[in-house]
Amino acid sequence: MSKNFKRHLVTAALPYANGPVHIGHLAGVYVPADIYVRYLRLKGEDVVFICGSDEHGVPITIKARQEKVSPQDIVDKYHGIIKKSFEDFGISFSIYSRTTSKTHYQTASDFFKTLYNRGEFLEKTTSQYYDEEVKQFLADRYITGTCPHCGNDSAYGDQCERCGTSLNATDLIHPRSMLSGSKPVMKDTLHWFLPLDKHEKELRKWILEENKDWKPNVYGQCKSWLDAGLQPRAVSRDLDWGIPVPVEGAEGKVLYVWFDAPIGYISATKELTADWEKYWKREDTRMIHFIGKDNIVFHCIIFPVMLKTHGEYILPDNVPANEFLNLEGDKISTSRNWAVWLHEYLEEFRDKQDVLRYVLCATMPETKDNDFTWKDFQSRNNNELVAVFGNFVNRALVLTQKYFEGRVPERGTMNDFDRQSLEEIGNLKGAVEENLENFRFREALKAGMDVARLGNKYLADTEPWKLIKTDPDRVKTILHISLQIAANLAIILEPFLPFTTARLAEYLNLKKLTWKDAGKTDLLKAGEALKEPGLLFEKIEDEVIEKQLQKLQRSKESRNGSPSVSKPQKPSVSYDDFAKMDIRTGTVLEVIKVPKTDKLMQLKIQTGMDERTVISGIAGFFKPEDLVGKQVCLLANLEPRTIKGITSHGMILLAEDADGKLVLVTPTEGVSNGSEVK
Ligand code: 2FM
Ligand code: ZN
Repeated sequence: MSKNFKRHLVTAALPYANGPVHIGHLAGVYVPADIYVRYLRLKGEDVVFICGSDEHGVPITIKARQEKVSPQDIVDKYHGIIKKSFEDFGISFSIYSRTTSKTHYQTASDFFKTLYNRGEFLEKTTSQYYDEEVKQFLADRYITGTCPHCGNDSAYGDQCERCGTSLNATDLIHPRSMLSGSKPVMKDTLHWFLPLDKHEKELRKWILEENKDWKPNVYGQCKSWLDAGLQPRAVSRDLDWGIPVPVEGAEGKVLYVWFDAPIGYISATKELTADWEKYWKREDTRMIHFIGKDNIVFHCIIFPVMLKTHGEYILPDNVPANEFLNLEGDKISTSRNWAVWLHEYLEEFRDKQDVLRYVLCATMPETKDNDFTWKDFQSRNNNELVAVFGNFVNRALVLTQKYFEGRVPERGTMNDFDRQSLEEIGNLKGAVEENLENFRFREALKAGMDVARLGNKYLADTEPWKLIKTDPDRVKTILHISLQIAANLAIILEPFLPFTTARLAEYLNLKKLTWKDAGKTDLLKAGEALKEPGLLFEKIEDEVIEKQLQKLQRSKESRNGSPSVSKPQKPSVSYDDFAKMDIRTGTVLEVIKVPKTDKLMQLKIQTGMDERTVISGIAGFFKPEDLVGKQVCLLANLEPRTIKGITSHGMILLAEDADGKLVLVTPTEGVSNGSEVK
């Protein structure tokens, strides 16, 4: 912390209220934010910790449509689940609000009006897809069609999930509205744009020169956005769910979700305290945004431009974004149900919040994506929490019960080893501090756990159980020192493991301690009675882990087999329509990757009728050598299309599973090329 800050405003990304929270969200955002805030509070700092549900946006309207309920029903349901699971997990927000709150509508509306009245927006008429049957403009996600890059006929208007290309809805071939299935038409519509380009110079100075200490992943992403040149960004949408654009004649238009969501941080602070302005408008407040990497541009570029344009508001001092957490080697995905859901974990692992907090902190994707596995969860619990922290505390407490009737023994003369051990606590406290101040949570946790390692080593080296008969005074000193180490653990590990340290503090009869107390060696007074201790952690058996792995396996299987996750059947076609398709077998003769593309391959195919060129978006799934010599099925009479200057004569048939994995459709036995498939 370079400047002299008087207070802290810590925000955690508002989760979308269209599904519950999973371990990816926790490791990326909420666990680090909570550790950081708990640390500040222990230091006695003035801090507010702000979050809430992000309740607008197109995905919520899509979910509502799928479930045949209103968007309000969806957000009510998930807001409740998310809020409760955060509470039960010990995420200590000062407030957990929501963006459908009255205060938020007012705040976001006023914010827009201030900018609007000052002429800060560009007004532009653009042409957008419109569904004439349901009389609605279509968000890009509401349009499907054929991907111009790989031929996938179920690409979305913003992205093709097969080849990963991001698209504009107007790029799609044969676009269809997902609302009615009809062909959308282009229609003019008026929107308001924030001219980010006008702020490029000051953003470059602010980020690239004044904030060189931001994490490399954050700084790097900002730099590439800035180097590519900023464009005006629309801050309104044609949608019937959201905060109405507060301008006359703007019926049917709402604020873009990414305009209103970050203002949610302000609204929630207003709901928390009448004194909210001192957190948002004073230069001696330090604002920190905890987010995942997909939110960087919004928090480092767009929201700061909004705040700056509005005036009065401070900008973030740091945005320590994390990368993503994978699960068992695979990307976490809500739609594929590939996740560990917090509310389910809390049900299935009663009173084990700290085990998950520990594992997520120890594997936090701070500098690169990381992987959560259940085996690692088990081994960190058994080999670190149980064997190191739990074991040390248990030995110190049980021996005190056994030898001294549960009272803190007097400390006698200390030897060098005693003194060094106590001194080491102070060094480790310093290391935790230094790492937390710089958002290195994994290192901070490691240094905190080193205090427990120190305690274990101290007991192992001094072996009080061997001395109790011959030198009980020495045992008094050893246990006195061990108990001081345990008391230090109750403070130093509090930000990471708040449930466990609360129990430890209770066993030790410790009253409220602060960060300043950490490092002290007289936290417990001789003669004080301790409580009967319980175990801080218990071993997790193989069966428990097996059960979780089976649960994931079932989720994978249901994806492969269940109709609910496969795409719905398309409308019927006549036999005549089918018969128009000339599908033939052919053999792949040559394959090369199309230069300057990630996904496209150029194949030469012997079709029995000719040798022809076919382009296919399969480079992500096959190497050329996997394909050469294979028999394939080919839609031979598909209209020729030119892609990247190469004309494709037909399309090879592929089967695609719910994960987007592609496999060739091939005859099960060799058959002559040019055979008809019917
Ligand atoms: O990516 C997300 O989950 C967004 N709902 C985060 C919003 S953060 C903020 F700006 F509100
Ligand atoms: Zn594609």
